[in-house]
Amino acid sequence: MPAAAHGPDGATPPFLILPGFPPIINQYYVCRLPEVLQATSFTSYIPGLRPMIDINEIGATAFVIASIRALEPEKPQPLFNDPYAPWFSNDRARTAARQVDAVFPPSTTMVRFRTRYFNRFVERGIVDGARQVVLLGGGFDMRAHHYHDMGVAFFEVDQKAVLEFKRHILADNGLEQPPSLFANYLEEDVAGGLADLGFDLAAPTLMVWEGNTMYLPPASIMPFLNRLAAAIPSFRIAFDYFAVDLQRRDFDSDEDRKRLEGLERAMQASFPTGFPDLTVFEKQAPFEVAESGSFSELAEEYGLGEMVAEYPEDWRETLTLYRYCVLERR
Ligand SMILES: C[S@@+](CC[C@H](N)C(=O)[O-])C[C@H]1O[C@@H](n2cnc3c(N)ncnc32)[C@H](O)[C@@H]1O
Repeated sequence: MPAAAHGPDGATPPFLILPGFPPIINQYYVCRLPEVLQATSFTSYIPGLRPMIDINEIGATAFVIASIRALEPEKPQPLFNDPYAPWFSNDRARTAARQVDAVFPPSTTMVRFRTRYFNRFVERGIVDGARQVVLLGGGFDMRAHHYHDMGVAFFEVDQKAVLEFKRHILADNGLEQPPSLFANYLEEDVAGGLADLGFDLAAPTLMVWEGNTMYLPPASIMPFLNRLAAAIPSFRIAFDYFAVDLQRRDFDSDEDRKRLEGLERAMQASFPTGFPDLTVFEKQAPFEVAESGSFSELAEEYGLGEMVAEYPEDWRETLTLYRYCVLERR
C-alpha cells in the first residue's frame, strides 16, 4: 500500500482537491470537504488524503487530458481503451476539456490521436527490445498498468503532488503505483533518481514525454536532454510539440495565433516552447530524429481519414503545427 501524505499540521481527513480552481495564486487547493461542498460542486473526494497536495497549473493539465481520454468509449470509433481515465476526471477538468473543444474543435481529437500514437510507440519499442519505460511528466498516464503483462519495468517521473494524488486514487482501487520519482525533472538528477528506484542505466529504454514540451521554459530543455543523454547510453524519447517559435509567437496566420492562445486560456497554462526546426536536437544534443510527423496525418491509419479530410482547410492548416517526434540517443 502506498504511504499516506503527511500534513505538518496533523489535520485529519476528509479533504477535497479542486483541480482547476482559479489560478490566482497558481495553485490548486485542498480544502475541508464539508466547507467546500457548501461552496462548490467539485467532486474529487479522496478519502484519507491529508492537506499536502499542491498541484500547480501545469500539473492541473493532467486532469484535463484524463478527462478527454475518459470520453473515448463514447466515440463511434474508439482509438484506445483507458478504463482508468475517469478516476482522474472531474467537473472542473471536464469544463476545461469542453473549452478546449470550443476553441478549436479538432484539439481533443488530436489528443486521442496522440494517445494512440504513444501507445504504439511503447508497444513497438517493447517488441523491438526495450526493457524499461519511463513516463516523463506522466501525469495520469496508466500505461504502466495497461502494459503490465509485457515484462518491462515502468517508472514514472512527475511532480510530487500529482504522483501522490495518483497514488491515493490507485490505492483506493487496489492498484499500486509503479516506482515513481517525485521531481521537477528540469532541475533534478533524473537518471540518478531513477537508478535509486531500480532503473538500469544501461538497459534499452523508452521515454514517453507526452503533453509536456509546450509547457516548459525553453532554456531548460537542451540542458535537461543533454544531462539525460550523458547518463543513459541507450534510449528513445517520444514527445509531442508545436512546430512554431512560441517565444517569438511567430505564427504564419492570425488564425493559428488565436487558436493556440485560446488553447492556453482553456488549459489555464501557457505554451512558451515550440520547435519550428527539429535539427536543434541533433545540433545541440546527441540525438537523431528517428521519426516525426503531424498527428493529423495519422488520421487515415486510425480509420478517421474521412473525418479529418472534411475539416475546413484552415483547420487542417493549423493542425500541421501539432506534431510528434521520436529522438534516438546517438
Ligand atoms: C498535460 S500533463 C500530461 C500528462 C501525461 N503525460 C498525459 O499525456 O496524460 C503534463 C504533466 O507533466 C508534468 N510536468 C510538467 N513539467 C514538469 C517538470 N518540470 N517536472 C515534473 N513534472 C512535470 C505535470 O505535472 C503534468 O502532470
